[in-house]
Amino acid sequence: MLDKRLSYLSFTTMLNSEPSRRQFLAFLAASPLLAAAGFDADALTHAAHATTRNSDHALRLAQRIVEHGASADGVIQSAKEALSVFDFEPVAKQNIPVSHWGYLATGTDDDGTIQANREGFDRWALHPRRLIDVSKVDASVSLYGTRYPTPIVINPVGSQKAFHPLGEIAVARAAKARDHLQVLSTVATTSIEDAIAARGGPVWFQLYHQSDWAITRQIVQRAERAGAPAVVFTVDLIGGSNRETMMREARRDTRTCTNCHLGGAPLPGISGRVDDRDNRRKPNLVGYPHVTPIPEVGTPSWEFIDRLKSATRMKVLIKGIVTREDAELAVAHGVDGLFVSNHGGRAENSMRATIASLPEVLQGVAGKIPVICDGGFRRGTDIFKAMALGATAVGIGRPYIWGLGAFGQEGVETVLALLRKEFEVVMKQSGVTSIAGITRNHIVAR
Ligand code: GLV
Repeated sequence: MLDKRLSYLSFTTMLNSEPSRRQFLAFLAASPLLAAAGFDADALTHAAHATTRNSDHALRLAQRIVEHGASADGVIQSAKEALSVFDFEPVAKQNIPVSHWGYLATGTDDDGTIQANREGFDRWALHPRRLIDVSKVDASVSLYGTRYPTPIVINPVGSQKAFHPLGEIAVARAAKARDHLQVLSTVATTSIEDAIAARGGPVWFQLYHQSDWAITRQIVQRAERAGAPAVVFTVDLIGGSNRETMMREARRDTRTCTNCHLGGAPLPGISGRVDDRDNRRKPNLVGYPHVTPIPEVGTPSWEFIDRLKSATRMKVLIKGIVTREDAELAVAHGVDGLFVSNHGGRAENSMRATIASLPEVLQGVAGKIPVICDGGFRRGTDIFKAMALGATAVGIGRPYIWGLGAFGQEGVETVLALLRKEFEVVMKQSGVTSIAGITRNHIVAR
């Protein structure tokens, strides 16, 4: 009997052997559960005898049905079929090993803040103006003198080769093709030099501090030498984060973690610092000349920001600020920009949406420095609401990784294109033709 015990691994095992693939497909085609879910048994039988590519797709559909009880309808086979960024998620889930999927999907504790980020957008409604000529729309924004055609920033996400063999390189190529700002994670599986080469232009560098300032400084200065114009210091994981979903999903993965992760599966939760036990797949963390260590005393405070500012000529931004008080302190310490972020709901389980934090951070900043908001952006309307509240730009994370995991570079490009298209339609429908034209009057509290 076909049931939820059939895991991702059952499917990937089948994918690796043509005879058992066909046998398995034939079995699925005869399954009453699939028929009840509306799955087309004829198509599946056909797939059982067709090419590997079709069979793979049939298997993905079948897995979706088994795992989610979903209908086969609506699961896309190519990036071109996508109607929204959500269409990439189930495909990526099929393609990505379960423990890596857990790493991507996880929030903290019971993942409530992921949901809160989404619900935050529902607290705002559009307030559109009519009878304005919107035949030409310019959604471009300028960040530190560089103009991008949209305010959509490709935010840092760690270890992207865990989601697709080309990882950050595919993302950089998509960023180049569609001219988006990309921010590379310290714990990327691609070096800052290679990312900048693939992007064909500057990429910002996200920083996790190390327990040794001498190493942190070398990491920062290397990014500057490579051509990164900005360093984005992440401050929202310093106390640690309880990643339950990640840990649960990791238990379902029976592959040998030590093939890639020295010492086995990654540590439960996140320590608050990048764990330097195993940097084999983290090129931004290796290859530094041995210098006299300067051990950190305690965890970073505002003094660290001053040190960081004096160690580099890059713009220094802080990612993870959610209060007016900290925004004011950041300005006082000469910080060049902020990301209003709760790390995609994976910092503390605050249950507060970033779109709810944005207004007070903007008050604290008082227009002095750019403010980028991230957390749950999935629709053009979400982007519009943040811009109407006063954000300079918005960051996306999981949606482009869904695109990457589903269809590689093409998936990422399509996610970017869909969000841009949706955003430009909302601009037009609201009667605005430029970013400067989007005002607080274009939204109302619900
Ligand atoms: C790293 O940025 C993570 O959220 O795991």
